[in-house]
This record gives sequence, structure tokens and C-alpha cells, in this order.
Amino acid sequence: MLTFDQVHFYYRKGQPVIDNMTFTIEEGEFVAIIGSNGCGKSTIAKLMDGLLLPKEGHVNFNGLDTSEPTELARIHEQIGFVFQNPEDQFITTTVLDEVIFGLENIRVPREEIRLRLDQALQAVQMEDYLEAMPHQLSGGQKQRVAIAAILAMRPQIIIFDEATSMLDPLGRKQVLSIMHELHHQGLTIIHITHHMDEVLSAERVLLIHQGRLEFDGDPSTFFDTISVTDYQLDQPFAVRLHKLLGLNAPLTADWKEMIRSEWSMS
Ligand SMILES: Nc1ncnc2c1ncn2[C@@H]1O[C@H](COP(=O)(O)OP(=O)(O)OP(=O)(O)O)[C@@H](O)[C@H]1O
Ligand SMILES: [Mg+2]
Repeated sequence: MLTFDQVHFYYRKGQPVIDNMTFTIEEGEFVAIIGSNGCGKSTIAKLMDGLLLPKEGHVNFNGLDTSEPTELARIHEQIGFVFQNPEDQFITTTVLDEVIFGLENIRVPREEIRLRLDQALQAVQMEDYLEAMPHQLSGGQKQRVAIAAILAMRPQIIIFDEATSMLDPLGRKQVLSIMHELHHQGLTIIHITHHMDEVLSAERVLLIHQGRLEFDGDPSTFFDTISVTDYQLDQPFAVRLHKLLGLNAPLTADWKEMIRSEWSMS
């Protein structure tokens, strides 16, 4: 369980970036965090992991307070980060080293490293690229290696901060499908995105506006009640279609599936 309790944060005194924010994310949830540029999404992500500390209030992960220096290492181990630009997160020169780097750092035994390496690369379908140089891979492959490196650490939560935004449609689809597979296996997924169609497949949406939590609920209610253009956001195609045709079928990310289920209802 990850809790924000009346969190305030600023980079420069007198210019609040996060303003009295309170919410709880339960284990195993798939949460999308959205909002216009500069609203505070990445700051929230860094507060979750203790990379930044609240000026007031508390961020608590499974009973560990990020403001307690002695608890930070345990928090870092359990919360993984995938960023927008995979290049920024590579530290070594082969895929193999990239995935085992963190494990060697925390002195995981050899046998266990081998096992975790295999599992992590299989999960992202990159097992054939052990000796490849991360910088020479495609954008989508790079991001998958970055995810494998996080997975090998066996985190409980993975925060994806615009991790799909630099990928082409195929790369994006592959990374999204990995995110959903990991969620299916029980990981908590926090997906910060500007792609509004990706919001539809989340279980819960947090809309941030000027450092405040403006909406917290499921995607269907979100698109029903929030005028997205007020927040410089787009209406996904499936939502426009759903409204335009006045469909009774539930709103889903896949518009073809939505139409099929409408037909089967009539
Ligand atoms: N290191 C920093 N020093 C000073 N101000 C910062 C710093 N990082 C972010 N900010 C400011 O804090 C506010 C929130 O930034 P943040 O990066 O959290 O927004 P964001 O929602 O992630 O935006 P984007 O969608 O562009 O990634 C912005 O006004 C930004 O300029
Ligand atoms: Mg950001």
C-alpha cells in the first residue's frame, strides 16, 4: 500500500508544486496518472520513491516512511522506475550486464542472478539479445531491456513515467502489453502518460491539475464527468465513438471489441 497523506512539495519556496495531496494506491492496482505538462506528475513519481521528500505531510509505502533515511533503501528496492528515454537509464555496455548490474550491487547469489536474468529477459521477450549493446537496440527493445533490469530486482511497484512516449506504435503496444501482463501477475503498475487511449485500459485514473488531485476514479466515470479539453487532454477515439453512437456496451480501449459487444447485446 502506497499512501500520500496531505503532501505538500515545492522546489522554490512560495511556489507550491504539490498542494495538499492525499490518496492511497493498493497493492496490485493499475493506476494511470494524467495531466498537462508541468502539472506535477513526475514530481509525484519521485515523491513515491523517496527521491524527493515532502515539505509537509507523509509518503508511506507498506509502513515505511520515505522521510526516514534508514527506510529509504528498502523502499528503493521495492519501487522500480522506467523513464521516458531508455538511453538515460543504461549504465553498462551489454544487455546481460544491464540486467544483472543491480543484482550484483545488492549481492544476490550467482545462482539466483542466473535465474532472475532468464526470467526477466523472457518476460520482455529479449532473451536472444544477451550480448547485444543496449545503445544499438531499437527504441522499443531498449525500453524492454530497461523493464527487464527493473524486473530482475523483483519490485512490488513499477512506475512508468511516460515510458511509451518515444516509441512507435508497435513498440508502444509491446511495452503496454508487458505492463498489463505484469499487472496480471500481481505487480502494482503506475503509468504516467499523455496517451489518453492508454488511460482506458487502466483500472483507476488520477488527474492532476496545478499540483492538486482533480479526479480519482475509474476511466469510464472519468470520461463521463470530466471535460478533457479543460485540461489540455484529448478524447480517445473509443470515447468519441461511444458518445457519438450512444453505445450501451461498456467503454473499452479496443473500439472494435466495443462495437462487437454492442451488437451481441441487441
Ligand atoms: N528540479 C526542478 N527544479 C525546479 N523546478 C522544477 C524541477 N523539476 C520540476 N520543476 C517544476 O515543477 C513543476 C512540475 O514539474 P513535473 O516535472 O513534476 O511536471 P510533469 O507533470 O511531470 O510535466 P511533463 O508532463 O512535462 O513531464 C513544473 O512547473 C516544473 O517546471
Ligand atoms: Mg513528467
